[in-house]
Amino acid sequence: MDRRSFIASVGGAAALASMDANQKADALEFAMCEELEAAQGGGAQSSAEPEVKPNGYVATARVFRTFGIEPNKEGRKKPDQFFHMGHDNRLPRMSNKPSLLEFFDKRIGHSSHLLQSARLAKINGLPEKVVFACLLHDISVSGFISGDHGYYGSQLVAPYVDEEVSWAIKYHQSLRFIPDEEVGYPYPEAYIRYFGEDFKPEPYIFKDAEYARNHKWYMTARQICINDVYSFDPNVKVSMDDYVDIIGRNFKEPEEGLGYDDSPSSHMWRTMIFPNNFL
Ligand SMILES: [Fe+2]
Ligand SMILES: [Fe+2]
Repeated sequence: MDRRSFIASVGGAAALASMDANQKADALEFAMCEELEAAQGGGAQSSAEPEVKPNGYVATARVFRTFGIEPNKEGRKKPDQFFHMGHDNRLPRMSNKPSLLEFFDKRIGHSSHLLQSARLAKINGLPEKVVFACLLHDISVSGFISGDHGYYGSQLVAPYVDEEVSWAIKYHQSLRFIPDEEVGYPYPEAYIRYFGEDFKPEPYIFKDAEYARNHKWYMTARQICINDVYSFDPNVKVSMDDYVDIIGRNFKEPEEGLGYDDSPSSHMWRTMIFPNNFL
């Protein structure tokens, strides 16, 4: 992605200048995902005919902007009008017992980057747990919220995955800024190109990266970074079908469906189902 396209994607140079370092990095990752999707014909792999094709879904306001439709942020304009609650007909309708794959299908665009990361981890001979962590590492960027996406993504999946997987998803966010040449992770060249030489993340990133570096699961999170930065190849097309078994073995689908199972992150999945609810 060239610098001009990136700046345009965040709304111009002034908008970019107002972001902190971490927001810039998140915006870059999102823009690169979008570019990759566009190059590959983009969007989620829905077999149904959605009323609005999902090609990116990030938090409530962002999904509508990405879908090119307006959220009902003004609420009712006349006293006899209702506020919007429930399913939004402009988005693919979700079932009453949605699985992770249904979320990938109807809410999470940008899965090419995740699939490419998982594929690369597999090619590199990493254990299935790491391949699976790579498959989910940016699930929040793609499906929920991009700022602090490692932290949100980790919380989103924590009730359903091995603790090491959610831990690694959380800490890949801070570790991606910290090079570790010994294990094959230089500082990402793209960050210099896009953010300049003096780009410096917030102190909490350094603190969390330092903590992660001394943890027994350090290499799991580091492997996400290693298999992450190279996974924006427009010529590599990976199918979710190849990962259905891995999801089956590593993701504990709740019987009631994601969002309705009363787990610590059910409300986050529900926000994805009903992104336009007034309350
Ligand atoms: Fe990430
Ligand atoms: Fe990523």
